[in-house]
Order: sequence, then structure tokens, then C-alpha cells
Amino acid sequence: MLGVSASIAAYKAVAIASQLTQQGALVDVIMTPEAAELVRPLSFEAITHRPVAFEMFRLIDSEIAHVALARSADVFLVAPATAHTIAKLAIGLADDLVSATALSCQAPQLLAPAMESGMWQHPATVDHVKTLRERGWTIVEPGVGHLASGAVGEGRLAEPEQIVDVTKHVLARGGDLAGWRVTITAGGTREPLDPVRFLSNRSSGKMGLALAEAARDRGADVTLIWTSGADSVPHGVQLVEVEQAEEMRAAVLAALPRTDLLVMAAAVADYRPAEAVGQKIKKASGMLALDLAPTVDVLQEVSKVRGPDDRTIVVGFAAETESVLDNARKKLVDKRLDLVVANDVTIQGSGFGSDFNQVSILQEGEPDIDLPLLPKIEVAHHVYDAVLRMSGASRDPSAEFRA
Ligand code: CTP
Repeated sequence: MLGVSASIAAYKAVAIASQLTQQGALVDVIMTPEAAELVRPLSFEAITHRPVAFEMFRLIDSEIAHVALARSADVFLVAPATAHTIAKLAIGLADDLVSATALSCQAPQLLAPAMESGMWQHPATVDHVKTLRERGWTIVEPGVGHLASGAVGEGRLAEPEQIVDVTKHVLARGGDLAGWRVTITAGGTREPLDPVRFLSNRSSGKMGLALAEAARDRGADVTLIWTSGADSVPHGVQLVEVEQAEEMRAAVLAALPRTDLLVMAAAVADYRPAEAVGQKIKKASGMLALDLAPTVDVLQEVSKVRGPDDRTIVVGFAAETESVLDNARKKLVDKRLDLVVANDVTIQGSGFGSDFNQVSILQEGEPDIDLPLLPKIEVAHHVYDAVLRMSGASRDPSAEFRA
């Protein structure tokens, strides 16, 4: 359910409705009558292919609109939320379809404010937002930028992508990974050579990011240990930034005691410069030989510290260029993995840097799951489907799994 109130930013709600629809949601838009003056309901109807409601006193399937709409919602997002609508929500007024539906709605609720800076910072608005937070509303904080008034300040509606991301996080409560603590590693480690250079690999971290988003969307408590900067981490995912294999080892071992599922998607360097020199290596004529020392194998370290009763599920990735399934199967055994995701990095359009991946999921004693070329987010969901099948479907890991 998307409630639109009468801010100039109401036109951005069309983008929100569009993104949610494209990602598979059924989006019912409701509007305040003033919002329907700013953006025609038809704009939303054309995108969601569902009727838009903005009149209070009408029936839907013989039931009064706000009650029927409130009952049908899995999540209720108000975007943009004006100062006036926020005030009504906080004190429980119900004189338009958006506020009346909110009052009657039992689903998780969130709002994205948009207003002029003075209104956003006014003690009345601050108090109302605090009240709503205490009542369980999630607030997608407004950004700083150009406002409709012409001023630059705080109060600008958050970007539609961000609002959609937070909505998915709120919607994830009760998903089939709810209660699971999932640790994911992603990206290629960087092993320093001198103050300006490092040795690394082609991993972009996209597969790990997709794994983090998919686990988050299924309700898991997600920690992402990654090497690629904090730009686009999904909302609600706890980020641990590392650079070198040694730092990744330390971060993984630190997370392990509170991890039900470890997914090692990172491309950890196998070698590092034996010595990182303190000064920039200067150009000279002739060849330059580098001494490389082996790094630690993080998964081997994990298998050493896991006792016989440890029930953490461990998933590894195997990036291969030849004998893909045989090499992956060897890693499954050698690294004591529960599942291995075999990745032929020579396939065009798959793997490193791509948004797509073609993998096989291997498990001891089970037939291989050979997947076609898929978006990485879908590959991630297949991995979790396999994990859930393996662990005996959805259950509360803290109660049963770790018992
Ligand atoms: N891995 C690890 N520590 C390393 C190297 C790899 O934990 N130092 C993990 C990766 O995160 C991945 C799995 O081991 O989940 C397999 O990684 P891969 O690079 O395919 O294999 P390697 O063990 O490095 O073997 P090789 O490079 O010889 O294929």
C-alpha cells in the first residue's frame, strides 16, 4: 500500500510505485484529495495496473474503503509524507483516506517525509516523528538538497531507490530466513605492495552484495564483510569493511560465534607481496621480481575452529576456469563445506563484474543443481533455497538449529 500525500515531491511517488511494481509487488496507491490534484491518479494506475483510491466514502467489495485497503496491505508506505500528514498520523486523525487507512492498518508501516526545512525541524514535527518511531513506524530520513521553495536544506524526499530498499527491508520481517544470522564475505581482497599499489583480482563484490540483499529480503540478520567500499549496501545490512586476506580472516572468525550461515563469496587472494615496502617502488630498467607469500585460507581456518557439534552451515564458492565441477567438488571436501557454488568464470556474461552468473550448486550426496545464466539476485535466492532444503526447511535456528 502506497499512501501519497500532497507534497510537490508526490511526482516521485510514481517512480516508487514503478520500481516496486517492476520488482513484483502488487502496489495499491491511495492518495489524499490534495495529492490527487498534484499528480493525476491515472499516472499511478497506468503503472500499477490497479485502481487508485482517494475518496473516503466509497465501498470496495462491499466494505468501506479504508478498512478493506488496510486489511489487504502487507506493508504500508506513506511517501511523500507531508508535515500535515505526519501530524495526523501521530495524533490519530482520520479525515482522509491515507490517515484513515493508516489508523486501521495492522501491517508494518513506514513513511518518507518531504517538506521545507523549517517544517521538518519544527519541534512539533520532531515530536510527531519521535512518537511515530516509538509506535513502530520506520522513517526514511529526508535528504539535504534543493527544495521546492528554492532553498537548499534538509527536507528533500529520500531517493525512490532508497525508499524501495527500506520498504523491502520492512517487508522482510517474517521471511523464511527470519531468525537466521547470516555472514557473507564479498569482493576481492587487496594485498598491499607499496603505499600506492596492491595485488588484487577481478571480483566486483556484486555476487556477495546480491547474497546480502536476498538474505535481508528473506528476513535474515545480515553481516556483510566486504572489500569494495560502502556505497550501495542494502538497508539493514551490517557492514564490516576489510582490505586484506588477514583482515578478512579476523572479521570472519569474530563473526562466527553469532553466525548460523556463512557464505564465503569473497575472492580471497592466495598470495600477498612477502613484504609491503614503506616507500613507493621506483621505476627502473629491466625486470622486477616480486616475492609472494601465501595468505591464510579463511575457510580452512573456519573448519579448524568449528567443533563437532557446531551447526553453522558453511557455503563456499569455487571460481574455476577448467574441470569446474571436479575442482568444486574437491573444495567441498577439502574445505569441509556444506555447499559449494561452482562458478565457471570463462562463460561469457557470467561472473566477475557482471550482474549475471551461471553456477552449479553442489552438495555431498545430492544431485548437482545446474542453473542457467541468471541475475545474481536470483542465483542468491537459489543458494538460500538449497540451504533451507538442506537444513530441513524454515525453522527458528536459535531454538532448534543451535540447540
Ligand atoms: N577462500 C578462502 N581463503 C583463501 C582463498 C579462498 O577462504 N585464502 C575461499 C573463497 O572465499 C571461496 C573458496 O575458498 O569460498 C574457494 O576459493 P577459490 O579462490 O575458488 O579457491 P582456492 O581455495 O583459492 O583454490 P584455487 O585458487 O587453487 O582454485
